[in-house]
Amino acid sequence: MSDSRNLPHGEFFQSLSADEKGYHKLAAWLKAHAGIHMPPTPKNFTLMASRLSKIMGTLGLSSYADVHQRLEKGDVKVQKAFIEALTTNKTEFFREAHHFKVLPRIVQDILQKKSELRLWCAAASRGHEPYTILFTLLEAGFHPLKHGLKFLASDIDQSVLEIASKGVYAADELGDVPIPIRDRYMVKMRESAKGERWKVRDELRQLMTFACFNLVEFPYPFQHKFDIIFCRNVLIYFDRATVVRVKENLAQVLAPDGYLFIGHSETGSGRVASLQAIETAVFKKLEEAS
Ligand SMILES: C[S@@+](CC[C@H](N)C(=O)[O-])C[C@H]1O[C@@H](n2cnc3c(N)ncnc32)[C@H](O)[C@@H]1O
Repeated sequence: MSDSRNLPHGEFFQSLSADEKGYHKLAAWLKAHAGIHMPPTPKNFTLMASRLSKIMGTLGLSSYADVHQRLEKGDVKVQKAFIEALTTNKTEFFREAHHFKVLPRIVQDILQKKSELRLWCAAASRGHEPYTILFTLLEAGFHPLKHGLKFLASDIDQSVLEIASKGVYAADELGDVPIPIRDRYMVKMRESAKGERWKVRDELRQLMTFACFNLVEFPYPFQHKFDIIFCRNVLIYFDRATVVRVKENLAQVLAPDGYLFIGHSETGSGRVASLQAIETAVFKKLEEAS
């Protein structure tokens, strides 16, 4: 039997993007295990082929049927590589800046009623978002130790979390970080062939716990409830039923009067009765009926 991995990359990619039956099986597996919904469109055929053709060689796989078989067999290495290849990790510092204007007021409200703050950034990607949250709190005079900060940053994709936990970014990734904020909370690394790079101060990185977490594995297992959850720009990859289930589960692990932040483009989908919109893309958990 010919091994399609030996084909030139362009032909290998073409053979994958033409395999509609294989596509359907892989898309169904992805949806069931990561919630990511990829309807069978020409754009998605290309996306799947382009992302998978880059990893299949190293995994010793030559067709979608091979990939599917290894996924179904429970091959953890293939499952992890497959999910990581198909996540989209686009992120930036101070993305959707409106949220970082309302966050200090919300934190102040919470701290009037309690002496600690539990925060979860549930699709943290490469760390820009959790660090933006932390910088915003520090700028507002929040004291992580005095105010008992517990901060979980999670994502389904282990490879991006490794980057997040190191907290090292190229100068051109700092985008909207104001220079005084950069200089207060990051340190410039020694010049290297990689160009100018900045690292989040160790004492700030150490305030966060980084962990792999899949938002579509229900119910969520936390012992303590969160005061604030950021779950932004990930619901857009889920279908409506999944969005509702994820929001319901997020609401379950929110403390009474806790707040959920979602992406500004995600406000239209899946209303959940226990979450009341109080600002654009910010929801407050309603008191549970007794
Ligand atoms: C587009 S990024 C958004 C990052 C950040 N929240 C922001 O707004 O800049 C989406 C992130 O969601 C993660 N993701 C996708 N499916 C997930 C799931 N089922 N559970 C947890 N994270 C998931 C991806 O790995 C990716 O890092």
